[in-house]
Amino acid sequence: MSTRLKTLLLGFVALAFGFWSLPSDRAQAQRDAFSKWRPTHELADVNYVGSAACAQCHAPLTAKRLANPMSRALAPVDSCEILKTHPKLNFRNGPYNYQISREGNRSIYTTSNGQSSISEPILYCFGQGKAGQTYVFQHRGVFYESRVSYYQETEALDFTILHSHSVPESLEEGLGRPMTMEGAQGCFACHSTAAVKAGQLQVDHLMPGVACEGCHGPGEKHVAAIKAGNKNLQIFNPAKLDADELSQEFCGACHVGFEKALLMPKQGGMNNLRYQPYRIFNSRGHSGDARISCVACHDPHDKLAEGAAFYDSKCLACHLATRNEVKTELRSAPACPVSKQQCTTCHMPKIELPGGHAKFTDHWIRIVKPGEPIPN
Ligand code: HEC
Ligand code: HEC
Ligand code: HEC
Ligand code: HEC
Ligand code: HEC
Ligand code: HEC
Ligand code: HEC
Repeated sequence: MSTRLKTLLLGFVALAFGFWSLPSDRAQAQRDAFSKWRPTHELADVNYVGSAACAQCHAPLTAKRLANPMSRALAPVDSCEILKTHPKLNFRNGPYNYQISREGNRSIYTTSNGQSSISEPILYCFGQGKAGQTYVFQHRGVFYESRVSYYQETEALDFTILHSHSVPESLEEGLGRPMTMEGAQGCFACHSTAAVKAGQLQVDHLMPGVACEGCHGPGEKHVAAIKAGNKNLQIFNPAKLDADELSQEFCGACHVGFEKALLMPKQGGMNNLRYQPYRIFNSRGHSGDARISCVACHDPHDKLAEGAAFYDSKCLACHLATRNEVKTELRSAPACPVSKQQCTTCHMPKIELPGGHAKFTDHWIRIVKPGEPIPN
């Protein structure tokens, strides 16, 4: 029986017997609120407590998790490592010059066209910088995304991905991309935790990076429940999601799931190469099974495993290793006629994004034929 039907029937029985069970209704509603929570969303009336509080009881997990770059997806300018170690960065675009210079624990972003210039203090560094790092500042009260970004590969500034490379018509246009409040909220929701409250961006509340509560939801009631010995743990546990919900709705809230990708402007071509949930969903045979959900290959509490060998066992959970092997109910996907190992090197190639100065792993698992365009 579906849960909805059950609730309906229970409600009916409760009414028929004439008792009114408001407290348990409320408890049920609260349980539902926790189970329906998704990253980047809000959970009304529950406060965040910060990862340090989680560490009190989940210490090993918290320590490990700090190695994951998601926890460093955003840094306030005073603690931004790249800008600390690169106190002067320059970039030229025709008559335009860009400079980021360190002054104490601040960094100043300056655009000049030879005659005049605009300077603004950088507020936040977005991205730990594995591929690159983009800067967010305010100009006349509006949040901007910098037109130039830092790239690890070249250790220098270059155009931010998807920004125009033409010579701007005005200094203001040269600064970068002004963001609507909604747009800015989106950036902070994916790269930090607790930045949005009551539908409003509140940067003074944010915790840098994807903290525990960025994935599990605000923890105030959980901590209280544990301390009170309450059986209802009052925290979102993604382990309860099915494989597609986990990949598409949970990780996909930030990494961009199938439905979200279809609604995005400019999602075609190479732009969706970085939308792993979208791409894996398109790949034949690779959805609807826990052995192919994001957490089958990636531990969200640990750093990314590098090297193709690590992933072989993940593929062989479904695929036979050789053509002579006998199919079982669980392992029934065909064997590769070419190789028994290093599967991802051929079937999940690393592709350089134009202007991105970095390679991304194509999660559209497939037979890659030389000369064929990358599907999208
Ligand atoms: C006072 C100790 C304590 C604190 C603080 C605490 N937890 Fe827990 N947490 C527990 C215990 C105990 C369990 C139950 C463990 C079990 O059943 O294995 C648990 C379970 C969980 C679960 C699994 C829930 C489920 O449905 O199985 C998650 C997720 C979780 N905690 C996340 C967090 C996060 C995030 C924080 C910080 C906001 C946090 N915890 C803070 C003690 C704590
Ligand atoms: C709240 C948003 C958010 C959610 C939810 C989220 N991620 Fe991320 N993830 C990010 C951001 C932002 C980065 C980029 C961090 C950086 O490099 O600055 C990232 C990076 C990663 C990386 C790359 C790490 C590296 O070393 O390059 C992996 C792998 C990853 N996430 C897996 C997952 C998985 C699996 C899930 C679901 C269980 C998930 N993420 C959920 C925001 C999120
Ligand atoms: C829908 C969620 C989402 C939004 C909105 C978003 N990002 Fe990201 N961002 C991610 C994820 C997820 C990654 C990691 C992707 C990957 O490596 O495949 C990422 C990666 C990055 C990186 C590269 C990080 C690195 O270590 O190489 C930069 C820079 C970045 N984002 C900047 C921004 C800026 C600036 C904004 C807003 C102006 C923004 N992002 C908005 C989710 C988001
Ligand atoms: C990127 C998203 C993400 C972040 C950030 C994250 N978790 Fe988790 N967490 C998950 C997922 C997904 C699962 C379910 C894992 C699974 O099914 O293998 C999980 C499971 C758990 C569990 C239950 C473990 C179990 O074995 O049942 C606990 C406890 C937990 N997380 C605590 C934390 C704490 C504490 C932090 C911060 C240090 C944290 N998580 C940060 C995604 C995340
Ligand atoms: C079958 C295994 C597998 C599954 C399932 C999988 N990935 Fe990956 N992922 C990989 C491999 C392999 C790499 C590259 C690791 C390396 O750097 O060597 C990778 C890398 C990444 C990266 C780092 C950026 C990049 O492009 O290299 C992110 C982010 C990521 N995966 C997110 C996800 C998300 C989100 C999901 C769920 C939709 C997912 N992955 C599912 C195998 C997998
Ligand atoms: C959940 C089980 C599962 C996992 C895990 C899995 N596969 Fe598959 N794979 C399938 C199924 C099912 C098919 C479709 C077979 C068919 O009907 O032709 C398939 C098809 C393929 C194909 C053929 C695609 C095509 O278009 O013809 C390739 C290549 C492939 N998988 C490689 C991999 C690699 C590499 C990995 C690990 C990174 C992997 N698979 C992980 C189940 C899985
Ligand atoms: C050196 C590159 C390479 C490696 C490594 C590799 N494959 Fe393949 N694989 C191919 C090529 C090329 C084909 C297409 C062969 C053809 O069509 O004749 C293929 C075909 C396949 C197919 C389709 C088989 C069918 O009958 O439809 C599957 C599934 C597959 N590989 C899975 C894997 C798995 C799993 C691994 C790791 C155990 C792996 N591959 C390692 C290159 C590779």
